[in-house]
Amino acid sequence: MRSHTTGALSPALAGATVTLAGWAHRRRDHGGIIFIDLRDHEGLAQVVCDPDHPAAFAPAERVRSEYVLRVTGTVRLRPPGTANPALRSGEVEVLAREVEILNPSAPPPFSLDDENLSETVRLEHRVLDLRREPMQRNLRLRHRVVRAARQYLDAHGFVEIETPILYRSTPEGAREFLVPSRLHAGHFYALPQSPQLFKQMLMVGGFDRYYQIAKCFRDEDLRADRQPEFTQIDVETAFLDEAQIRGLMEGLLRHLFREALGVALPEPFPVLRYDEAMRDYGTDKPDLRVPLRLAEITDAVRDVAFQVFAGPANEPGGRVSALAVPGGGAMTRSELDGLVEEARALGAKGLAWIRVNERARGADGLQSPIVKNLHARALAAILERTGAADGDAILFCADRAEVVSAVLGALRERIGHARGLAEPGWRPLWVVDFPMFEYDAETRQWRARHHPFTSPKDGHEAFLETAPERAYAKAYDLVLNGWEIGGGSVRIHREEVQQRVFRALRISPEEQQAKFGFLLRALRYGAPPHGGIAFGLDRLVALMAGVEAIRDVIAFPKTQRGQDLVTGAPSPVGEAQLRELHIRLRDAPRA
Ligand code: AMO
Ligand code: AMP
Repeated sequence: MRSHTTGALSPALAGATVTLAGWAHRRRDHGGIIFIDLRDHEGLAQVVCDPDHPAAFAPAERVRSEYVLRVTGTVRLRPPGTANPALRSGEVEVLAREVEILNPSAPPPFSLDDENLSETVRLEHRVLDLRREPMQRNLRLRHRVVRAARQYLDAHGFVEIETPILYRSTPEGAREFLVPSRLHAGHFYALPQSPQLFKQMLMVGGFDRYYQIAKCFRDEDLRADRQPEFTQIDVETAFLDEAQIRGLMEGLLRHLFREALGVALPEPFPVLRYDEAMRDYGTDKPDLRVPLRLAEITDAVRDVAFQVFAGPANEPGGRVSALAVPGGGAMTRSELDGLVEEARALGAKGLAWIRVNERARGADGLQSPIVKNLHARALAAILERTGAADGDAILFCADRAEVVSAVLGALRERIGHARGLAEPGWRPLWVVDFPMFEYDAETRQWRARHHPFTSPKDGHEAFLETAPERAYAKAYDLVLNGWEIGGGSVRIHREEVQQRVFRALRISPEEQQAKFGFLLRALRYGAPPHGGIAFGLDRLVALMAGVEAIRDVIAFPKTQRGQDLVTGAPSPVGEAQLRELHIRLRDAPRA
């Protein structure tokens, strides 16, 4: 239907006859001459229709926005001074001999050039939104990433294997989606939160390198970086140790960036232990572009008069930390008050601060309501450990360690970016050695930090039942610019260890058999040592594309409320369909 795409037009084609196809992006009637910006997936081309060519001019008079056209004409250089450097084809235009309207379009509800469209409008009219340049760019980037992943994994001996979407209900962390069974009244499938147990069974099944571009389903509260269905690059390997798995996966990420973006990621990625990450950055997914670090001062303030610090410093599980803000001494009182409010919103009881006017003068060179209650030794430790210089501010938080980390960790990144301290570029890192368990104060139970199939570190099996807080895991996350883009672990491959972990999680033997019997049975038949990882493809591509929300790299995403505005899912279903599924509703759905 066409001989060229708009991207192929160049001065070298001057004089040639071409046929283009696409949409009428814009039409300008200059009285006697009509210009049409014809858009295809590569960009725009300027088409000129004049009355000397009636087969072009007459249809051009009827053309409106988003009409589908086929245009045949002659390429010519634009007159001097009228070239458009913003367009790939900007040095040339096509003098049309024939314009054919392949299909008219209803008037579009918005201009495709509008950069301030609401997301609701974009999602309701997704087909039009997809035609726009940003979505074209994002989804084509996503394609290049997936293609590069397949290339790399294939070259490294991985086999792509599909696993079931209709799965069984297993407690794995998030809330799951259920699908009623017609054939088995009162029974349900669950949609998988990830292919985790299937890929482990594939290892027992003798496929020593598996991957899948896998759809995962989690009925969670949605955020910018979370969708109820999302995609993982899911990987599992047998007979590799933790460092080997990480090395191979680091290679994958490096390959993706090289192929899809032409970017060389640092080599090797830095590795931080979880405890170090929490200590220095207050988070297990630090944005290393921000060069600030927290300074630990708990031990230095145990015996100060200031009870706000001394209290938590002497409590088990308490922490007092400081964050130096370069140039922050110039912040006004109301700016500082703003930070205190922000800290409170993050869960702090307050946020103490010191302005460093003249460090060399000791306490006299510091300005703050709290200085008089800190002794010289504490002040010296604070200055030394924060490395604060004249003109800086130091912020303090004292509380339970989790609160201090959450507050100062968040302030570190927010302030670092807001004050223009972040370095440009890509800063990947591994965070390793996570605790096996975390305590859920609500249910008063330990739960798996990663998932219950993660192997304890060598020697840590002994802590499983007696001191769960001391058990660390062979688990690792890949973090990029403050986003967790992947997580994985070495798995438990011995039935007995798996049972002990279940026991530590208070999963009774009966429940173990009922819910995970299939895994325990598989482990019994010579399961090889194995481990893997899953990358969040949507997050990875969103980062690469420089967009905030993963919805912008998904063709048909759900809204924050879990709805698909294109098809109107979820929707009520008829009584006949429900009856077949043996379901009676408690409340009539609202239409
Ligand atoms: P995990 O739960 O850490 O691990 O998930 C792996 C990665 O998937 C991405 N991700 C999400 N992306 C979008 N929307 C969501 N709701 C969402 N949830 C997670 C994140 C995350 O790092 N089976 C294990 C992996 C393994 O151990 O091999 C798993 O699913 O980027
Ligand atoms: P107060 O003695 O309560 O008036 O607090 C003195 C200063 O300490 C104020 O600037 C408070 O914002 C700050 N502050 C209060 N609680 C904390 C805390 N838990 N951590 C750090 N600073 C705090």
